Amino acid sequence: MAPARSSTHSAITLNINGEKYTLTADHRTTLLDALRERLDLTGTKKGCDQGQCGACTVLLDGRRAVSCLQLAVAAEGREITTIEGMAEGDRLHPVQQAFLDLDGYQCGYCTPGQICSAVAVIEEHAAGWPSAVTDDVHPEAGPPPLTAEEIRERMSGNLCRCGAYVSIVEAVARAAAAETARTTEEAA
Ligand code: FES
Ligand code: FES
Repeated sequence: MAPARSSTHSAITLNINGEKYTLTADHRTTLLDALRERLDLTGTKKGCDQGQCGACTVLLDGRRAVSCLQLAVAAEGREITTIEGMAEGDRLHPVQQAFLDLDGYQCGYCTPGQICSAVAVIEEHAAGWPSAVTDDVHPEAGPPPLTAEEIRERMSGNLCRCGAYVSIVEAVARAAAAETARTTEEAA
């Protein structure tokens, strides 16, 4: 058993989905391996393990990150959200529901990463962040229309080996439209 603190290991506390998890981790342990292998949070998937497929996407302080390229020790003090933290009790997150309703998956391996990414995409878009395909990048222009092209670009870091892209784009568009309707209603 490794000591609580050494030149190679440290005791760390991770805040995941609103709960605190304490573990002693080798400093080289990735956040992905800490989640899956140490904390049994296996919803986050390992695809390439080198930052190229997006299967391991989680939210760090609300922004998406590939957990295979994050060290667990560096995630201390951050708010980590994984797919296990998306639903509220029995109620699925609207993005989860849209993926379910529109068959935004086949084998489902990429799906947790796709959903985490989509949740952040919808927030990034609503905040007016441009993407590489946004024509008018001036902040005063407001959020660009969330076209299929915008969704494809913004979700391009998440690969799907089953090729469920058509349904994924539809699911993201539906969830984004529902979120816009909800915030408009709240503001009225
Ligand atoms: S497993 Fe992290 S990007 Fe592929
Ligand atoms: S649903 Fe199979 S990899 Fe995307």
